Amino acid sequence: MCGIFAYVGKKQNAGDLIMEGLKALEYRGYDSWGVAVKKQDGQIYLEKHVGKIGQAKLPRLSSTIGIGHTRWATHGGVTRDNAHPHTDCTGNIIIVHNGIVENYTSLKKQLLKKGHIFKSETDTEVIAHWLEEKKKTDNDPLKLMRGLASAIKGMSAVIAFFPEEEVLYVYKYGSPIVFGQNNDGLYLASDPSAMILHTKQVYFLEDNEMLQLGRSGYELYDGHGEIKKITFTTLAYDQEDALLGKYPYFMLKEIHEQPKVIQNIIDTQASNITKVAEFVKKADGTYFIGCGSAYHVSLSGAYLFSKIANRHVNAAIASEFSYLESFIKNTSLVVAFSQSGETIDLISCIRKAQENKAKILAVTNVPGSTLYRMADHRLLLQAGPEKAVATTKAYTAKIAIIYLLAHELAGTIKKAKEDLRLAVSEIQRFLKNTDKIKKMAEQFVKHEHVFILGRGVSYPTALESALKIKEVSYCHAEGFAASELKHGVIALVQKGTPIIVYNPADETYQDALSSAHEVKARGAYVIGISSKNNPIYDDFIEVKDCHEATIIPNVTVAQLLGYYLALAKGYDPDKPRNLAKSVTVK
Ligand code: AGP
Repeated sequence: MCGIFAYVGKKQNAGDLIMEGLKALEYRGYDSWGVAVKKQDGQIYLEKHVGKIGQAKLPRLSSTIGIGHTRWATHGGVTRDNAHPHTDCTGNIIIVHNGIVENYTSLKKQLLKKGHIFKSETDTEVIAHWLEEKKKTDNDPLKLMRGLASAIKGMSAVIAFFPEEEVLYVYKYGSPIVFGQNNDGLYLASDPSAMILHTKQVYFLEDNEMLQLGRSGYELYDGHGEIKKITFTTLAYDQEDALLGKYPYFMLKEIHEQPKVIQNIIDTQASNITKVAEFVKKADGTYFIGCGSAYHVSLSGAYLFSKIANRHVNAAIASEFSYLESFIKNTSLVVAFSQSGETIDLISCIRKAQENKAKILAVTNVPGSTLYRMADHRLLLQAGPEKAVATTKAYTAKIAIIYLLAHELAGTIKKAKEDLRLAVSEIQRFLKNTDKIKKMAEQFVKHEHVFILGRGVSYPTALESALKIKEVSYCHAEGFAASELKHGVIALVQKGTPIIVYNPADETYQDALSSAHEVKARGAYVIGISSKNNPIYDDFIEVKDCHEATIIPNVTVAQLLGYYLALAKGYDPDKPRNLAKSVTVK
């Protein structure tokens, strides 16, 4: 989960273009960054730093070719030496890489024996020295890269920059890399949103493909080394979708985009939902899987399918799926939820499910992503780029899709659309004035723990709410099935502990209210989130009833709590420590 950007073309400010691209990719990892360009005088300029790019700028450089990288550390600590780009001993091979070279230890041992001097602890650096060693006997960069593809194990997107030949070679297996072009030149990026300012015509490289970029243009080679014609796809969003605009942070922008995203799903997804519902009907066993928030969507789906469609689905954490579902067969339908479509824990278990011939439905936000291409069927969120590490609009978009699907199976799609329109209006209503939520979040600053309780479909909402709060504000927030609290966790409750109770006007209402009484009796500060206030609450946030779709405005309250708590504690809600937007390494 690093960010890669490269340029070769007519423009003389390759360094600035690369920096701009890296800034757009920093959500993928921001431990360190680096850029290498070949200047017009033939010299290589390489700069690397620990930390975020922030306001950093390169010196004025006249250059038309180079590469850059923003890192989420896997092998080797967060140091300048471990920052990419990495070079071979001569400095004539420069590498950036996203992924893991699983066999780097053995490769490094062989290269050390041949006298190579390593400057970093990373797995990536072995790529540079491996190419250098092979270049001694074979000067054809394409052949070298083909050999590299066989030599390294694991998921990788590699860009090798040969400054003498002024060519870039790309090898892709598992990790994403996208190619784009315009009249000024050729671009590479880990994610198309980083090149949206230059082109909307993009090509997502397939596994084992290799791309050669240089002054004379480009050439794509398939996994067998045969030249392959590129068919570009047009990105379905515009520049402003990928930019911050009037907002202080992407997280707030994306929270505010939710009504538009959900309304688009209501207006455009009905026919796709009808088609997908047929796959569910035919399946002998349906599995909802995802990681993190995408698992919370999966669990929400299990409750919604049970209650609305009277159907059983298995929800599983993707990384646990392969241990749980050994009985996957060719009649199984695996519904994989992933905003990025690149989460390695999910991709790995989809590969295993496909070995058992299961059908895969991808519910993702990125067309052309690895998951999108692996799947038999697809539902796109069409939510536009989601740049904040903490997912918001993609989460509620997935909930909206699963809500429509459940009602489609129940023959009540019209009601689903009505409920979702209520949810859209409710979000719009309280986004007009978030002062109360902001003040409440600021109260949490002095507390180390916040608990969130929910029953029924509000239980996965409680899990997601806790994740939103903790991943951006580092406050220890935990979500619980409300009744579960009595089985041990209530020991944690003491005077003044803030406890949020989701209390929608559904079948859980009375029992959730009882849970509020129980924790209140032990001194908790109870915050009720409901369509009606109640004396048991110490504080109350009104969320009007949208039937089972109430979980959408409910989770939006938690998104805002997390956002404002992060700000109150002085943190950047878009780039929380230790995290990255897309977890593409195991
Ligand atoms: C959500 O706020 C987190 N950033 C994380 O749990 C995320 O949902 C998870 O990593 C899955 O990402 P994906 O949807 O891109 O697969």
